[in-house]
Parts: sequence; structure tokens; C-alpha cells
Amino acid sequence: MPQIFTVLGARPQFIKAAAVSRAIAEAGMTEVIAHTGQHFDALMSDVFFDELGIPKPIYNLEINSLGHGAMTGRMLEKLEAAMLAERPKMVLVYGDTNSTVAGALAAAKLHIPVAHVEAGLRSFNRKMPEEINRVVTDHVSALLLCPTQVAVQNLAREGIVDGVHATGDVMFDTALAAVEQAKKRSTILGDLKLAPKRYYVATIHRAENTDDAERFSKVVAWLEGAAQSLPIVMPVHPRTRKLLTQLDRLPVGLNLIDPIGYLDMAWLVHQSAAVFTDSGGLQKEAYFHRVPCVTLRDETEWVETLEAGWNRLWTTPDYVPRRDISDYGDGHSSRKIADILKAAL
Ligand code: UD1
Repeated sequence: MPQIFTVLGARPQFIKAAAVSRAIAEAGMTEVIAHTGQHFDALMSDVFFDELGIPKPIYNLEINSLGHGAMTGRMLEKLEAAMLAERPKMVLVYGDTNSTVAGALAAAKLHIPVAHVEAGLRSFNRKMPEEINRVVTDHVSALLLCPTQVAVQNLAREGIVDGVHATGDVMFDTALAAVEQAKKRSTILGDLKLAPKRYYVATIHRAENTDDAERFSKVVAWLEGAAQSLPIVMPVHPRTRKLLTQLDRLPVGLNLIDPIGYLDMAWLVHQSAAVFTDSGGLQKEAYFHRVPCVTLRDETEWVETLEAGWNRLWTTPDYVPRRDISDYGDGHSSRKIADILKAAL
């Protein structure tokens, strides 16, 4: 009977678990990992387990490439069976994906307390599947591990005050460790023939940008505009790859590459002149590496990056004056989380 049953499924969750699973082991707790299979490519999944030393999943559910209902439904069914077999004391979920909400719902219905890492984030845009996943997950969670004070306030506004902890951001922990390793090991700049600070990095994968052809063309046109000053390197998510191949011509100034591992990405961002993205994680990683970001969305959950002048929405022309952000913690958020989990067990 493990103390903690962790549900992972998508790339950003592997990155967060890298820090937290290590802290869980160091705190002497036992953990079993279930991988839903939502992200399944070697470049979207395996590379992170290998590079970041995440413990191997005991359960591989291989559920992917389905609509939201079918994907979440099948995950619920299989996760419930695995939780019944393992009888954990607590279920740990991360972020806002379909894997997150499936894990949280399965556990809550079995009366197993749920701990949610990255609780309390809101875009206030209920058209995003991620926003539905966040709201539902937070409302069935017993421990709400918030990366920022804004997240704590968002939960309070929804009446959630018990079990809420401001822990800082575990992605900062992972980023700090990665940059030291990447400095020694990454060959990505040489491989792509790039000079430090003489290129931009871009990523696009959100349904809100990729599901609407007109919107997607607008994003591509915006990137082509930016590429007139410096070349753009774009590691392409599988969802976006399909769309790019359907365009009547290849975008100008964009170097499209396959998804890359975490260390290479950390180094690529660290050395870039700016980041353009619709990813939540990358907006913060840009700040961790002190690189300015433009978010290709109409809102963001990470409002402190806007307020600190390191990020702006593509709908606003300028950054506000720059300052540091204290909310994300000191690089030991995962240890804080492990302590909270241990006290709750
Ligand atoms: C999911 C999350 C999103 C998170 C993102 C990180 C939901 C609703 N969305 O979006 O919150 O920011 O992960 O990347 O859970 N695919 C592959 N290979 C893979 C993974 C996906 O080919 O390894 C394909 C799928 O078959 C599908 C498409 O990419 O056609 C999108 O995958 P999906 O899991 O639906 O959502 P993401 O866009 O990755």
C-alpha cells in the first residue's frame, strides 16, 4: 500500500513531478506513479523520465488521441481500478490536463484525499478545456498547493480556504537544477547553428490557437512578422505539426524542429533573445531565465509575469517596467510540498 498515488500524463506534469517525486522520496514517503498515456511519443514523454530521473510508472494506461469525453472517461475507469488495487493514502495530481481531472475525480469518489499541485490558477475563460479541468480539480481537492498568492486569492473567491498552501512554483526548482546541467551538457545551440541572444524561441499548441484555422493563420503571421528581426526556432508540438503541414506554404523565418528534451529547451530559452508562446509553463520559464516573453493568447493565468514586466500579451503593445517576482519561491517549493504531504498523511 503506497502512501502516495501520483497521476501523470502530459509533458508539463513530468517536469513538475521531477522535482516533487525526488522530494517525496527524500522525505521517506512511498509513491506509485500511473502514466495515463495522454502524451506518448518518445519525444513528448520518455525523454523526460530518462533525463529528469522520474521514477518509472507502475501503471501505463496508454489512453490518448481521443476526444475529451472518451479520453477523460477511460482514464477515470482505469485510474479507479488502479487506485482500488493500490489503496493509497493520498492521490497527487498536477496542473490542468484531462489526466489531472480524471485522477482527481476518480480519487474523490473513492474518498481518497486529493493533493493538487498548481492549484488556484484561473484564466477566467471557460472555453478553455484547461480552465474546466482546473475548477473541477480544485473543488474536489483536500490539499491545494498554490504556486502564487494570486492562486490563493482565486480559491478564496470560490470559497476554498481549507487545505490551501502557498508553496511557490515547483517548475522553478526544476529550472534551476536544469540550467546547471544544461550549461555543461547541451549542444543544442551548436546543433542548430545559433548564436546566443541572436534568435527567438516559439511554441504553439493550445486548442484555442490550433482549433480555429483563422486564428492559427493570425498566430503564424504574427510569428513571421517577429522573424523579420531575428530567426525563430520552433519546437513543434504534434497537434501543431499537423496544422503546419496543411498550410499552403511553409512559414518564412521559422525553423521548425521536433520537440526537444527539457535540458535542451532550458538552454535554448536561457540563451534566446525572447520567447513567444501560448504555453503556461514556458511563460514562467522565460522569466526564470530572465528572457522577455510575448504570450500569444488574450489572457494568462500567470498574471505576475505581466505585472513584473517580463511578459506581455500579444494584444498589448508594451511591457510594464521590469522587476523580480518573489512569489515563485526560492527553488525549494518541492521540499515544502513534501513536508505538507507528510504532515497530512
Ligand atoms: C494537453 C493539455 C494542455 C497542456 C498540454 C501540454 C488537456 C485538455 N490539454 O494538450 O493543458 O498544456 O497537454 O502539452 O489535457 N499527440 C501526439 N503525441 C503525443 C501527444 C499528443 O501525437 O505524445 C497528439 C494527440 O494525438 C492529439 C494532439 O497531439 O492529436 C493533442 O494532444 P492532447 O493530449 O489532446 O492535448 P495537448 O494539446 O497536448
